[in-house]
Amino acid sequence: MKIVAVYSTKGGAGKTSAAVNLAWEAARSGDVLLWDLDAQGAATYLTGVKPKLKGGVAKLVRGRTTISDVVRRASFGNGAVAAHRFDVLPADDSYRELELSLDAAKGSRRRVEKVLKDAAGTYDTVILDCPPGASLVAENAVRAADVVVTPLPPAALSLRSLDQVRELVADSAKPAPVFAFLSMVDRRKATHRRAVEELPAQEAEIVEVIVPATVVVERMGDERAPVATFAPRHEAAQVYTHLWQLASRRT
Ligand SMILES: Nc1ncnc2c1ncn2[C@@H]1O[C@H](COP(=O)(O)OP(=O)(O)O)[C@@H](O)[C@H]1O
Ligand SMILES: [Mg+2]
Repeated sequence: MKIVAVYSTKGGAGKTSAAVNLAWEAARSGDVLLWDLDAQGAATYLTGVKPKLKGGVAKLVRGRTTISDVVRRASFGNGAVAAHRFDVLPADDSYRELELSLDAAKGSRRRVEKVLKDAAGTYDTVILDCPPGASLVAENAVRAADVVVTPLPPAALSLRSLDQVRELVADSAKPAPVFAFLSMVDRRKATHRRAVEELPAQEAEIVEVIVPATVVVERMGDERAPVATFAPRHEAAQVYTHLWQLASRRT
């Protein structure tokens, strides 16, 4: 079982969009668990799952419930069905207390890793959709991860968030490789074109794959489904396929 954390300290960077599409890609060839670790519940929403984690997330991270007790099957709004199992650990209101629950627990940086040990026989891939910021939740996700995938909107601030991701990963007891890509790229903007030309050459972690800024990705919110289910021939769908091929090779 490979664990992929989709993480950046920056909000609105394209993490959840990437997490849902990468999970779909992974489910073409194996069983997938998508864990929505963000109290905002965007991944839960985009996979058509009810925002309710039975018993609350505190019980899950303390080992009082297990993944199989609380997991739900994805139920995409447009009726699409993944080739393999596509399960979701939904976020609900209890996630607002996740930071405190982790802090109070023994081995507070390893709870997510511990919880996932149980699922090793059930899933081939786990995708962790992380909240922004450098929280204990993020430390847990990074600690559990075999690879950290980081979307970067092409702006100067993004390099700062890449630095912050690197720092958090370097502080982990088990540093995973960081795999970053430019997201929400609008080629009509000179600054974006320059970022595309320069950043992958400057920063070793940034791969050449570029996710364009497009309404097709925004439409995921209406479809409540991954891009490939409703616009398979669109550039964005093909980019996520390519991204998954590259990211899964890093694990
Ligand atoms: N490539 C893209 N093109 C256009 N809009 C995008 C793209 N990626 C994400 N968005 C939109 O930007 C917003 C934030 O994206 P999201 O994936 O939720 O980011 P994060 O999880 O980092 O906060 C959402 O409304 C989403 O639909
Ligand atoms: Mg998100």
